[in-house]
Parts: sequence; structure tokens; C-alpha cells
Amino acid sequence: MAIRRICKYGEKILAKKTKKVDFGAFRKELPALLADMFETMDFVGGAGLAANQVGLDLRLAVIKIQREGEEPLSIVIINPEIVEKSGSMYEEEGCLSFPGLFARVRRAAKVKVRAINEKGLPIEINAEGLFAKALQHEVDHLDGVTFVDRLPLISRLKLKPALMKLKPQWKKLDESKMPPEKLQP
Ligand code: CO
Repeated sequence: MAIRRICKYGEKILAKKTKKVDFGAFRKELPALLADMFETMDFVGGAGLAANQVGLDLRLAVIKIQREGEEPLSIVIINPEIVEKSGSMYEEEGCLSFPGLFARVRRAAKVKVRAINEKGLPIEINAEGLFAKALQHEVDHLDGVTFVDRLPLISRLKLKPALMKLKPQWKKLDESKMPPEKLQP
């Protein structure tokens, strides 16, 4: 297993729709990639990570949801599609490709997602709350959309100077080379 570098805001792969995964052709490489993605996400304390965030043009993502008093829920979504949405929520989000940046984003309160799992089996997920938010955030990544793109134009304009300032610093960040103690608060 290895921690991989996370692509940051401004890197082209984050703005590109990812390619569908051919599960049969990719199944041998998949376990090692998923292990790396979970390790990378855990290392930086994230709740989700899309393959294009580690530089791979693949329509797959990992999600880890920690609910109070429950075991963390780890899930792999390959070729996910949101097939139903309902309701609305407006909650704060962050993103591993925008370290330290948080903003409130409008999302559906409930979603139904169809995907295949790490075994190649079709799954259907009905999610709400935190889980629904993570699913929408990751499926957006796989479509080349980041949470900042979801903000109203006025908010994006206000954020632009901060983004321009942070962009060169973020670009230099390489999680694969960070000693673990650097991430302690
Ligand atoms: Co993200």
C-alpha cells in the first residue's frame, strides 16, 4: 500500500469527465488501487476520494462515512450514476483537492445511486444526510465538477482571489511524501 499524491485545484484531470471502468479488464489492478485510495484518504482524514483526484482517468471513488457511535462505513463506487434525487440541503463541504477551504453547497437531501462494487456486483444505494452529500460530491468529481463549481457565481467570484493565492501553494503539496506528524493539528 502507498499514499498517493492528491491532485489540487487547477490540475486539468479534476475538470475532465472520467472514463467508465471496464471491470473485467481492470479487476487485477483494482485491489491495490483501492487499498492506496483508502490509505490516502485516511491519511489526510477525508470522507471521499475520486480516482481522478489521484491522477487516474477512471470512473470510481471511495467513501468512508463515520457516524457517531457507529463503525465507519467504507464503500467503493465504480461507474456510479445518480438515478434519483429529492429534497434539498445546504451544508458545509470541503475537498481534499482544496485543502483548508470550506463552503456551503446546495445538494439534494436524498439520492439513489447505482454503481458496481469492488467485487464487480451491481449495487443500489439509497442515502441521505452526510452519505448523500459524499456521494454527490464524488460523482461530481467523476464528472469533472468540483464543489467550488457548485457555488453561486457571486460566491465563486468572491472566492477567486483566495483560490489564486492558494493554488501555487497547493500545487506543491505532495501527500505521498509527507511525514504523518505534519498532518497532526
Ligand atoms: Co472532493
